[in-house]
Amino acid sequence: MTDQPSISPGGAPDWRDGVIYQVYPRSFADHDGNGVGDLSGIIDHLDHFGPEGLPIEAIWLSPIYPSPGRDLGYDVSDHTKVDPLLGAEADFDRLVAESHRRGIKVILDLVMNHTSDEHPWFVASRASREGPYADFYLWRDPSGWDDEGQPRPPNNWVSFFGGPGWEWVPARRQFYYHTFLVGQPELNWRNPAVEAAQWDMVRGWLARGVDGFRLDVFNAFLKDPELRSNPVLEGGNSPWNRLDHRYDLDQPDFPDLIERFRAIVDEQPGRMTIGELFSRETALAAKYARDHHIVFDWSLMESPWTATAFAAAMDLREETFGPDRWPTMALSNHDRERQATRLSTSVARDREPDRDAIAKAAAVVVFAVRGTAFLYYGEEIGMVDVDIPREEIVDPPALLAGPDFPWYDRSRCRTPMQWTDGPHAGFTTGRPWIRVAPDAHERNVAREATDPDSVFATYRRLLAFRRTAGALQRGLMRRLDSGDPDVLAWLRGSGDEALLVVVSFVGEERAIDVGSIAPGSWAGRVGTHRQPSTVDAGGVLRLRPDEAVILARTGA
Ligand code: GLC
Repeated sequence: MTDQPSISPGGAPDWRDGVIYQVYPRSFADHDGNGVGDLSGIIDHLDHFGPEGLPIEAIWLSPIYPSPGRDLGYDVSDHTKVDPLLGAEADFDRLVAESHRRGIKVILDLVMNHTSDEHPWFVASRASREGPYADFYLWRDPSGWDDEGQPRPPNNWVSFFGGPGWEWVPARRQFYYHTFLVGQPELNWRNPAVEAAQWDMVRGWLARGVDGFRLDVFNAFLKDPELRSNPVLEGGNSPWNRLDHRYDLDQPDFPDLIERFRAIVDEQPGRMTIGELFSRETALAAKYARDHHIVFDWSLMESPWTATAFAAAMDLREETFGPDRWPTMALSNHDRERQATRLSTSVARDREPDRDAIAKAAAVVVFAVRGTAFLYYGEEIGMVDVDIPREEIVDPPALLAGPDFPWYDRSRCRTPMQWTDGPHAGFTTGRPWIRVAPDAHERNVAREATDPDSVFATYRRLLAFRRTAGALQRGLMRRLDSGDPDVLAWLRGSGDEALLVVVSFVGEERAIDVGSIAPGSWAGRVGTHRQPSTVDAGGVLRLRPDEAVILARTGA
């Protein structure tokens, strides 16, 4: 790539160019006042994404299907329906119609690796070794019997959520495997009937107008046909991390399964899919990425807020994906600490971090790095993690946490959206299912909308600018040496348009000699501050503490 990076292959703008907003339905907005967010609540707030709000391309809804709720919707008892807790079938169709009317696409979260143990498939499967569902799950005979006559599990696989991976069912005299909770039995994707049933379900949602899917833990679908024990590793900090997941993840024939899935989705034009990689390696994310199918990689989400760490992760992504594969960009989701909390507590220097300032700079990174950008609800107002007392924890593995099972309590990042300074932050008229953040009086959409220096105002400016900037939407990316170890700089380019992004990772002023890193004259267009800093006559950009700025070329 030259100084003027060009448009990425594929050329024409498509769904990849926009920003995708993740809604956690239980926590976004409660219409009926029962304390749990619902689909009508989302409809009530669609103007949040309108011209006066956040211009986004799509909303991704965390699971909306009937569920006993042990993993808060990720334990699905019927993939074809809407959870009555969240609304009626007609509410979903109305949400799709209302979103489409506003030019917003709707993406569903498909949990296809496992079901709830209350799913009728599992209820039938558990009851008998005979019948159409007998082989829908990973059932195995014991590997033997111990001295007390107890069955030994078939292999050494464990649960990611803590404890054993195999559960004994006396009625079948067999074990079933579960990567997650006992109540989330693993489907047997090597049974063609399972695959056929899943594709029918996918077609059903496509027919209802859904624009795409996020695939939960998609690289776990296929297991080793012989279910061999995983090799044991030295030194991991939990039973899961002491196994090399050679036989329960990333099987060699898995890419063919992605192709078969894409063929179903491609029966309808322009539909997108995103795989949630349930492994750490960025190389695997790149390997599984396809046209119209992107994959989360975690390198940036796991980086502390230092220029060195972000530079390393950006370079790894660029090298691994190369110009022909398209990455994703996310700094938070429903499983991780909120970015303002995580990044401000990860700063390298001995300073009192300014959380909002870091939240704004992180927003610039999210929208200016190459990749489809994802925004978790509440990040746009700088929401932070909430301390949840143990008796209010709603994340099952968090209750098992201990020295040999470190676990982040995901209740902390799933608290109600803060809309107003009214009761329960305007989220519900009832009693919220999970506590509201104590800072909701000052930190809420209504208040931040009136403050031009708020986190929300910064998000609005950045998103409005991104809509007009082809270079940010689809340009290639080249990192530059800023000359300052605490400041990152990179170019984004598309066609004739070139943008220079400069991000300071420190709470003090810095001067960058832009003239020597990116020839031409540049002017600040948008960034963390209402008036972005710009380059002076001597080619120097003076950055304020924690400032990030996107500059456009103004001449040769
Ligand atoms: C994914 C989801 C997570 C869920 C797990 C099991 O990792 O993001 O929330 O608990 O899958 O479905």
